[in-house]
Amino acid sequence: MNRNDFRELLSRTKLVLPPMCGYTDYPYRRILAKFGAEILCTEMIKAKAFFFKNDRTLKMLARSEEEPFTGVQLLGSEPEVMAKAAKICQDMGFSFVDINLGCPVKKVISKKEGGALLKDFEQIRRILEAVRQVITIPLTIKTRLGFKSGEFTAPKIARIAEEIGLDAVTIHGRSVEQKYSAKVDWTKIAEVVRSVNVPVVANGGIDDGVMAKEMLVQTGALAVMPGRAILGDPWLIGEILHHLHGTAIEHHRSIKRVKETVLEHFDSMVQFYGERSACLCMRRFFSLYFKGIFRISVIRKNLGGLNSRSDFLSMLKAVETT
Ligand SMILES: Cc1cc2nc3c(=O)[nH]c(=O)nc-3n(C[C@H](O)[C@H](O)[C@H](O)COP(=O)(O)O)c2cc1C
Repeated sequence: MNRNDFRELLSRTKLVLPPMCGYTDYPYRRILAKFGAEILCTEMIKAKAFFFKNDRTLKMLARSEEEPFTGVQLLGSEPEVMAKAAKICQDMGFSFVDINLGCPVKKVISKKEGGALLKDFEQIRRILEAVRQVITIPLTIKTRLGFKSGEFTAPKIARIAEEIGLDAVTIHGRSVEQKYSAKVDWTKIAEVVRSVNVPVVANGGIDDGVMAKEMLVQTGALAVMPGRAILGDPWLIGEILHHLHGTAIEHHRSIKRVKETVLEHFDSMVQFYGERSACLCMRRFFSLYFKGIFRISVIRKNLGGLNSRSDFLSMLKAVETT
């Protein structure tokens, strides 16, 4: 994808779907695309894994025809390795490359990757320069306010991104140490927006369409990125687009509709991963789909016994009759 087109797309849709490990895979991105998402992202993929090309990595790099614009998120800290992986993504036809500068997981931090890079601006610069030199498709980063709670290094990182010619910067309004629970600081995201010319995408704590719009307005960001709220609720895409653009809305998560969608999702997983793995993945999604519209506790205890498509159909049936 051409860099100008990316900027126009970002200004038009104002909505970017998040990279989420274990969730935003091929089958779920297909669902998200079907519900109107245009800019999507793979879960984070280790740059080093591109050179082993094992089955797991290849699956993470699969893309469906239904996905309009999908980027790959890379995790790593060695500039040459990151650059080579980014070039492969470009050659595979992905729309953009995003660099992970925010992951708080211990195993990642201990390797000085993800969020740990917020302690080393020069290394960030080396990585971004190396990647920028080898790809012509848009290059973005996803980062946090700072490493420690109260630390605010995001403006400096956004400036580095701007100097190197990046195409967008996503700011998750929490620190690495805060992980996922602290209140998101919109005023800090707004400060980043004011301090750079590179487009900013605001992320963290979006629960619904009203909040997405409010976050966009109050931060001045060019676009917003919902996170956990999108898991099991692809209807939220329509709701957010409605609040951002006034488009027609059909946000009605009836049990019937959820069941149709969750079945489509499951069958796509079976096709993609095989029945056994699909069952394991669906154990993570099932409760999320029915959250708020069905007393999932009734069937949660059966999730561990989900081992086949027929188990899955019985569980869906139980949602109907319980
Ligand atoms: C289970 C899970 C997996 C995630 N995986 C990634 C990932 O692969 N890459 C990334 O940059 N962020 C990842 N995130 C962070 C989200 O993209 C998002 O920034 C975060 O959840 C904040 O948004 P929220 O408060 O709306 O959930 C993950 C978060 C969760 C909960």
